[in-house]
Amino acid sequence: MDASERFHWTLNPKVTPGAAYGAAQAALLDGAGLARARDVISAWPGYGPTPLVALPGIARRAGVGAVHYKDEGQRFGLKSFKPLGGAYAVACLVMDEVGRRTGADGIAIADLLAGRYRDIASTITVTAATDGNHGRAVAWGARLFGCNAVIFIHETVTAGRERAIAGYGAEVRRTPGTFDDAVRVTQETADVEGWHVIADTSDGVVIGATRNVMQGYALMAAEAIEQLPYEGPPSHIFLQAGVGGMAAATCAQFWQAFGADRPKTVLVEPETAACWFESVKAGEPATVGGDLESIMAGLACGEISRPAWDILAPGADGAMTITDEAAARCMRLLAAGEDGDAPVVAGESAVAGLAGLLAAAADDGACDALGLDADSRVVLFGTEGATDPDTYAAIVGHPAEAVV
Ligand SMILES: Cc1ncc(COP(=O)(O)O)c(C=O)c1O
Repeated sequence: MDASERFHWTLNPKVTPGAAYGAAQAALLDGAGLARARDVISAWPGYGPTPLVALPGIARRAGVGAVHYKDEGQRFGLKSFKPLGGAYAVACLVMDEVGRRTGADGIAIADLLAGRYRDIASTITVTAATDGNHGRAVAWGARLFGCNAVIFIHETVTAGRERAIAGYGAEVRRTPGTFDDAVRVTQETADVEGWHVIADTSDGVVIGATRNVMQGYALMAAEAIEQLPYEGPPSHIFLQAGVGGMAAATCAQFWQAFGADRPKTVLVEPETAACWFESVKAGEPATVGGDLESIMAGLACGEISRPAWDILAPGADGAMTITDEAAARCMRLLAAGEDGDAPVVAGESAVAGLAGLLAAAADDGACDALGLDADSRVVLFGTEGATDPDTYAAIVGHPAEAVV
């Protein structure tokens, strides 16, 4: 077996199929939260739903009925879904701070965008740890809403990703160790400096910003549900997971929309950073060590986000690990356009869900266990385009601009 075919899968013993969306989940993400996120985000310049692309060629390759791919490659020009979360959490923070300091009840996003509270916003500093995309989203949001940003990156974040963050006017600080180490340094520095941490992950003690991040991501899933060319639920969603915020928000949105008929939800991670796979297997949050190295930079996390666990422990049906080779192969497949499919520019972390689908589809045991067959309708979330153009070109063999 070559490395692009090596994978592992497990079912989740804690999943509650047929259960309604519960109170514990609704305390984190709900319809009112989505409505607020949609209201705020749709006011930003350049907002529009990203495309949901049908991939019949990929569906034939996988032996399923349909594959729909939500292409986040052009979201707000940042080339990933991340501004929906990071920048939304910055907007919430700045609106709350302005409200607190002025005593005004409810600050309108339009006023913030128009610079009406520039004096207050300019005294606020937000900070975040990132493997690239989240920091870029926070930096972009800080610039849009008029506050300052200091972004922490770890040892192996590429120079291309560092430049992209700095390009939005943020101060970028590189720290030793992994993403999880950078998360700790960010919190310690913020405590000393009086900065506001826009964390996309939480140990469950402080969850405010993380919940806002996830609530913003849920808009991506809500758009996809509205764009599906049929009534009723798809049968499966394969979701890549780093800390799990994106997967949890997406699972929660499909769960709210379709209740007991929600799609089977499968988490997919790099084999070198499989904290969700290990947690699902163990039935409790588990940490994985090592350098977590993977080309799927956005998924290279060793610790899960606790609020995401509260949704995915009952919500995910299974978890999988895939290799870097499988991800690279899927990037090339999408760029080439499989069997008549329109070509898609998909970055390293965007394709893990697709790689998980193709791996499961080629395995009789996984197909049986997950109910994957010729009638299955699968939704995938292509969470980034060529966010690091040099890395993209090196993997695919030509630049993103040449994918047409
Ligand atoms: C492109 C991309 N996809 C998926 C993810 C995973 O999101 P989460 O960390 O919320 O699981 C990330 C995280 O940075 C990402 O950048």
